[in-house]
Amino acid sequence: MSINILAIESSCDDTSAAVLQDNILLSNVIASQKVHESYGGVVPELASRAHQQNIVPVVSEAIKRSGLKKEDLHAVAYTRGPGLMGSLMVGTSFAKGFSLSLGIPLIDVNHLQAHILAHFIEEKDVDHKCPPFPFLCLLVSGGNSQIVLVENYNKMNIIGQTIDDAAGEAFDKCAKVMGLPYPGGPVVDKLAKEGNPEAFKFCKPHIPGLDYSFSGLKTSFLYTLRDEIAKNENFVAENVNDLCASLQTTVVEILMDKLRKAVKQTGINHVAVAGGVSANSALRAAFEDHARRYKWNIYIPKFGYTTDNAAMVGITGYFKYKDGDFSDVSLPPFAKVTI
Ligand code: KG4
Repeated sequence: MSINILAIESSCDDTSAAVLQDNILLSNVIASQKVHESYGGVVPELASRAHQQNIVPVVSEAIKRSGLKKEDLHAVAYTRGPGLMGSLMVGTSFAKGFSLSLGIPLIDVNHLQAHILAHFIEEKDVDHKCPPFPFLCLLVSGGNSQIVLVENYNKMNIIGQTIDDAAGEAFDKCAKVMGLPYPGGPVVDKLAKEGNPEAFKFCKPHIPGLDYSFSGLKTSFLYTLRDEIAKNENFVAENVNDLCASLQTTVVEILMDKLRKAVKQTGINHVAVAGGVSANSALRAAFEDHARRYKWNIYIPKFGYTTDNAAMVGITGYFKYKDGDFSDVSLPPFAKVTI
């Protein structure tokens, strides 16, 4: 018998619902919140309010597009955390109410695991290469930068992680000091295409092991701007493309240096990338380059599965359903990072 799962994601500023039949995606609806753009970052209170407005129409649309009826659903999967508490509470409460009203099981999903398991989403009539276990996954988003050793769907170990800022945060914060809109990552990516990646040199961290650090890069970027603007007040406007290209190159080099080290250390050469920053064109190009140079088998997600979406929550819910791993309605959301 096929398993039909409704999935809900509301951990940050995207309200999303998806329906999967087994591991096949039937629908994935995402309502992004424009309200934060003018604030230069996500405002938690506004995010919760927008989720509250979006959740019913987004879920209705996802069910409609799936071609199923709500009576056909076998379980509801939802993001329990990590994320913004107010945002998580909207999706969590809705999922609990939905499961209680239909009398179907509830499945809590870890947002970070979901980003990684997005690699297992299948679409009807579309060929797709899933990574075999074990594999390494570079998980890079606005809140996390981790190297994860994925032993199985339900067994993942973080072998390296940021000790301060995340890669996406570095993009967003540096973009903000250049006066670029939020989220900065995609804008930096676009402007970098016209810039010289060698134009500026920014500080790279020297920390042992597989951990990351991006706070030094952020400070070095800020100091370069401060010193140059003191000499020429139009410095940013005149050099924005070169600044973006040099920043992007530095972030990608930092990420790939540690990933190469992880491959060497573990002997695993199946390497995936996940999370919002995996949309970055230079990071994707660096993966392709490493596949050629070091014979890595690489797995890069479709653009639609890089940023927050409920399809990834649904595939994680599917694996948990098969394990009979259901959750209790009394389970509260959690804000803090864990895997
Ligand atoms: O995974 P995600 O949607 O949300 C979190 O769970 O954090 O990631 C959002 C992050 C933001 O920092 C955004 O700037 C970054 O992903 N991002 C990018 C690109 N697209 C999104 N960073 C660099 N290049 C991109 N093309």
